[in-house]
Amino acid sequence: MQKNVCILGSINMDLVLRVNRLVKPGETILSKNFKKVSGGKGANQAVAAKRLGANVSFIGMVGADDNGFEIVKAFKEDKIDVSHIKVSNNDPTGMAIITVDDDGRNSIVVVPGANMKIDNTSIEESKDVIKDSKLLIAQFETSIEATIKAFKIAKENGVITILNPAPARNIPEELLKLTDIIAPNETEVFELTDIKVDDTDKIREAADKLIEKGAKFVIITLGERGAALADKEKITIVPAYKVKAVDTTAAGDSFIGALATKLQNKKEVCFENIEEAIKFANKVSSIVVQKQGAQPSLPYLDEVLKAYKEE
Ligand code: ATP
Ligand code: RIB
Repeated sequence: MQKNVCILGSINMDLVLRVNRLVKPGETILSKNFKKVSGGKGANQAVAAKRLGANVSFIGMVGADDNGFEIVKAFKEDKIDVSHIKVSNNDPTGMAIITVDDDGRNSIVVVPGANMKIDNTSIEESKDVIKDSKLLIAQFETSIEATIKAFKIAKENGVITILNPAPARNIPEELLKLTDIIAPNETEVFELTDIKVDDTDKIREAADKLIEKGAKFVIITLGERGAALADKEKITIVPAYKVKAVDTTAAGDSFIGALATKLQNKKEVCFENIEEAIKFANKVSSIVVQKQGAQPSLPYLDEVLKAYKEE
């Protein structure tokens, strides 16, 4: 039987404002349009993977409110295993205020709420679901302490760990040592290494810093440039598809979900298989950036296969 992709992560309700341009400090501007859509980095990654054909289980927490109930209901409809999503009586479901400009660029403020309350006890209670998975994925919208605990369980049981260090922040070395694949974007890799990844030499330098600290593989997503993959010896850049982006929200999340879906079916997680998975992830994300919103823009496998045929 296919082993699960397990995601430890955030669940947010996204309040999305379309604006002509992103707001400057001290400025007030008018929005052209407002929408409430399901989001959260962890949730987006889970929905992306499920829609592409993975078996997905989720470790998370929502508040006892309409937003939380609505998102968990949608998860169930998408056939994601929700038995490890807890409900907090003291904290609201996470929320994100997202502004998207006419060029499809966004700025996001996250209110973590219940997401940050997933603690070591919750992880201990979810031990079996981690142990039985092929891959465990985490981001930084939940507590680092709980992520370390979950990654320890994963590594003790031969489960591949993927860390998407978003939003940007420093990573304790203890966590990097437990990480098989680290997948930051350009901003996050700068936060982690102080290196602007403008060319292949810089990407190599940044990847070396993360590998020296314990990561086995480094994937750096480079927006419209595609994504770079490096291990100790090799490096490659897989170019992105040329498309007109209208909203890049969840580009990175769909990339991670797609990557995990491809790797779930591979016997071995090696450089060549990751490279192949990145090609698929670039395709999926290129569909996502052409649509608005987080989860509404995540494609089902049929749509991706159709897009390949139209190349
Ligand atoms: P976001 O925070 O906007 O969700 P991110 O910053 O985490 O995204 P990016 O590096 O911007 O991640 O994008 C992830 C992947 O999405 C890229 O590696 C690429 O495959 C695809 N992508 C992003 N922007 C574009 C674009 N303009 N055209 C084509 N593909 C894109
Ligand atoms: O990566 C996009 C996501 O970041 C949004 O859905 C928002 O909830 C924030 O977590």
